[in-house]
Amino acid sequence: MATLLKKPMLLCLIFAVLLQMGLVPAAAELRRFEQPAKADGSLSFLVVGDWGRRGRYNQSDVAAQMGIIGEKLDIDFVISTGDNFYDNGLTGVDDPAFDESFAKIYTATSLQKQWYNVLGNHDYRGDVLAQLSSILRKIDSRWLCLRSFILDSGIAEFFFVDTTPFADKYFDDPGEDVYDWRGVLPRKKYLSTLLKDVDSALRDSSAKWKIVVGHHTIQSAGHHGNTDELVTQLLPILQANSVDLYINGHDHCLEHISSSDSPIQFLTSGGGSKAWRGDVKWWNPKEMKFYYDGQGFMSVQITETEVDIAFYDVFGSVMHKWGVSKQPHSAF
Ligand SMILES: *[C@@H]1O[C@H](CO)[C@@H](O)[C@H](O)[C@H]1NC(C)=O
Repeated sequence: MATLLKKPMLLCLIFAVLLQMGLVPAAAELRRFEQPAKADGSLSFLVVGDWGRRGRYNQSDVAAQMGIIGEKLDIDFVISTGDNFYDNGLTGVDDPAFDESFAKIYTATSLQKQWYNVLGNHDYRGDVLAQLSSILRKIDSRWLCLRSFILDSGIAEFFFVDTTPFADKYFDDPGEDVYDWRGVLPRKKYLSTLLKDVDSALRDSSAKWKIVVGHHTIQSAGHHGNTDELVTQLLPILQANSVDLYINGHDHCLEHISSSDSPIQFLTSGGGSKAWRGDVKWWNPKEMKFYYDGQGFMSVQITETEVDIAFYDVFGSVMHKWGVSKQPHSAF
C-alpha cells in the first residue's frame, strides 16, 4: 500500500488519521459551519446546558417546554453549553446514555434541528472522543459536537470555544476524577493556538452580531463563580473584538450579567437538569440583571438590528427578557 503513495501524501494521510483520532491538536484554523438565517433575515435558537441525566432532575420537563417554546419561536437550531452527559461523559459511542439522556429526551418536533454542542468538564471525564465522533452523528443526525468551531449565519457569527482545558484545577488538583486529555496535550500549545485562532476569527468577522459560546463561566455569581483563567486569557480577546454575548453553562442556574466596562452580556444557561445549589455570591446589582437558581433554558432571537433573549423556567414561563438594538450597517 505505502509504495503506491508518494511520501508527502502518505504523511498527510497519517496526519489525517491521527487528527481524526484526536491524537494531535486541531490544526491552526477553526472548522466553519453554515446555518443560514430564515428568508426574512431572522434567526432563533434555544440554549440549554448541564443536562444529561436520563430525564431525571426535571430534565424531561425542561425538554418538554423547550419543545413548546421551540415551536412558538420557529427555532433554527439548539445550542448546548456542555456537560452533556453526567457524571462522566460517555463511555464510548455505544454508551446507552446517548439515547437515554439525549435522543429519547428531546423528542419534540421543534427540537429535531441541528444541535451545536460543546464539551463540559464532565464530558472530559468520559471517552471524550466518543462525543466528537461522527458515529454519533450517524446515530442521530442532530448531534454535532466539536471542541472549538465557528458557525456562520450571515447576520450573526458564533464562536464555540473549548473552555475546559483552561481551568488549572482539572490538571493540578483533579482528585478522584480522571480526565481524557487526548487531543489537548501539550496543554500550553493547545491553549495558545486556540486563543490565537479565536482572536483572528473574531477579528476577521464582519458579522453584525458576534456570539461566543463556552461551557465555563466568565462572570457568574453562582456556585462556581468566575473562571479566573478565562477572565485573564479569553475575556480580553472578547472585549477587543466587540463581542455582544458570551453564553455558557457550568453553573446550574439561569443568569444574566450586564458588564459595566464593556457591551458584553454574560448569559448562563446551565439549568438543563440538576439545579438548586443554593449558594449565590453577592454581585453588583447594577450588573446583575437576573439570577435564577432552578431549572430552565434560554431563547435568543436575532435580526439585523436586534437581539432579544428570554429565560424560561420548568413550566415554560418567561422569567426574564432583555433586548438590544444596533443601527443597520452603514455603507462605506
Ligand atoms: C422540579 O421543578 C420544580 C419547579 O421548579 C421544583 O420545585 C423541584 O424542586 C424540581 N425538582 C428537582 C428534582 O430539582
